[in-house]
Amino acid sequence: MNERIIGLVKRVNGPVIEAMDVSDAMMLELVRVGEVRLVGEIIKLEVESAVIQVYEDTTGIAPGDNIYGSDMPLSVELGPGLIGTIYDGIQRPLEEIFKISDQYIERGIQCPSLDRDKKWHFIPLDLEAGFTVTGSMIIGSVQETERVEHKILTPPDMNGTLISIMPEGDYTVEEPIALVETQSGEKQLFLMHRWPIRSSRPVTERIPLSIPLITGQRVIDTLFPIAKGGTVAIPGGFGTGKTMIQHAIAKWCDAAIIVYIGCGERGNEMTDVLTEFPKLVDPFTGRSLMERTILIANTSNMPVSAREASIYTGVTLAEYYRDQGFHVAVMADSTSRWAEALRELSGRMEEMPAEEGFPAYLPTRIAEFYERAGFMKTLSGQTGSISIIGAVSPPGGDFSEPVTQHTKRFVRCFWGLDRQLANARHYPAISWLDSYSEYLDEVTPWWEEQVGTSWVQNRAEIMELLQKEVRLLQVVKLVGPDALPDSQRFIIEVCTLFKNAFLQQNAFDDIDRYSTTPKQMKMMEIILTYWRRGYQAIRRGVTLVKLRRIKVLQDIVKMKFAISNDDLEGFDKLNDRLERALNQLESIYV
Ligand SMILES: Nc1ncnc2c1ncn2[C@@H]1O[C@H](COP(=O)(O)OP(=O)(O)OP(=O)(O)O)[C@@H](O)[C@H]1O
Ligand SMILES: [Mg+2]
Repeated sequence: MNERIIGLVKRVNGPVIEAMDVSDAMMLELVRVGEVRLVGEIIKLEVESAVIQVYEDTTGIAPGDNIYGSDMPLSVELGPGLIGTIYDGIQRPLEEIFKISDQYIERGIQCPSLDRDKKWHFIPLDLEAGFTVTGSMIIGSVQETERVEHKILTPPDMNGTLISIMPEGDYTVEEPIALVETQSGEKQLFLMHRWPIRSSRPVTERIPLSIPLITGQRVIDTLFPIAKGGTVAIPGGFGTGKTMIQHAIAKWCDAAIIVYIGCGERGNEMTDVLTEFPKLVDPFTGRSLMERTILIANTSNMPVSAREASIYTGVTLAEYYRDQGFHVAVMADSTSRWAEALRELSGRMEEMPAEEGFPAYLPTRIAEFYERAGFMKTLSGQTGSISIIGAVSPPGGDFSEPVTQHTKRFVRCFWGLDRQLANARHYPAISWLDSYSEYLDEVTPWWEEQVGTSWVQNRAEIMELLQKEVRLLQVVKLVGPDALPDSQRFIIEVCTLFKNAFLQQNAFDDIDRYSTTPKQMKMMEIILTYWRRGYQAIRRGVTLVKLRRIKVLQDIVKMKFAISNDDLEGFDKLNDRLERALNQLESIYV
């Protein structure tokens, strides 16, 4: 790093430092403060003064201390070696740091984000000298993990003519692999390059969304689907299951790369992630899930400013893999803690507070984050996507607070967690009444082609029953169940079955934790057979009591545990048994 003094410390206010005698600095420049060289970033720049946000504990920094410039914005290193690594909010590799500094992160510690010694086997594309090199172009590949073939990209702002490219072989991230003639002279290319975290990486265009991100969670995939490239918020009060849902998606969803940002959650919860994630095994490949996962951990005891940066760091890493043509899922747990970091920093800068002390730019920042999701055509002509799944923890579970409300404006899918469901141990506690997905129309053709043409009608029929049930339950509350005719009580009956047999899903059960889309469809159809045929039977005079006693119902309640994903015939047999039982019941009345 090219070091020069750009100013002096004037005042220290926690993570915010005012600088004086500033010259030759740029907005958002990465700086180092004091002789311990704390990492910071210029977030406000005036004629001779600046405000710096410091990503480390500023104890001991005093007025008059030097501030060193770097000539570059706060950036991340992008190249092979990201997968499987655990970073803090400004991409410092936590395991490496702990090795050097013994549990506590020593201040001013300098540790490269990507391993400098590790050699990667680079396979170049067959490119000849004179070839026109443009931004984010694929020039070769490296097998990063067993399942990730990492494409080596040119930096997005590159433009020039290829002079030479190195032959297949082993290279570190700092050894040149190609030489390019550009307008500003010859430039070497490496397996890695840098990109500033606060700017989104350029793409050719956004592509309309059409493919669902399959999570294997029935309430999500069937009732409130998210599209690849989509955005979703999971608001929920304390302990309602936000983290469990994020973990389930990180484990089972069909994205190629997972970026998990643990943002300001309690230390012990992140410790769980750090210890549990590496042990998780991918059901499809039998290999560690860390082979497709990058973790960013900023617990509540780490500096707030690094927490503020962590979501940008995470989404920039995601964009890098998207540009290689991967589908990436980003989890942020929780964006409320991120917003609190923003509030604290804004307070220290003595900015005018808006709602509940949050800065007036809170909505803009939330929007900017979610806007980085999308299904894109990349500069190299590939397609890739980023889906963002953000947990929100409204204080007291009150969804009317600013972070939940603003987030709701910018996401197109909303999985509201319900305290009563969580108390009743109905998990995932996603409320079927408060939640919605605006991706339904987009993903319907996929479901119809891939799974079954009746999907959208089936789903609509179930949703209608769930809506009707709310009104019926109100009546029951007032006058008791006996006041309702059997045909209406049967609706309540079917909804109860649907909740127990379909919506509830046990994250700890080996079979139930993940349902393929055909399994979800078969399960829904069995419950609808019971509804459609049962309703008909009631109209022909069969009593509800008799319908309830059908023996096969017990097996329907257990089907999620008993019948595995690859035994679709098992569901057909169950459906046949149900039909026979209903035929028999009806035959008595005909
Ligand atoms: N799908 C599930 N299957 C079984 N148990 C679950 C499920 N989801 C949540 N739980 C139970 O609920 C508990 C709380 O879940 P979780 O930690 O995800 O909540 P949270 O909303 O993230 O809480 P916090 O507000 O503290 O971050 C879990 O420890 C687990 O016992
Ligand atoms: Mg949590």
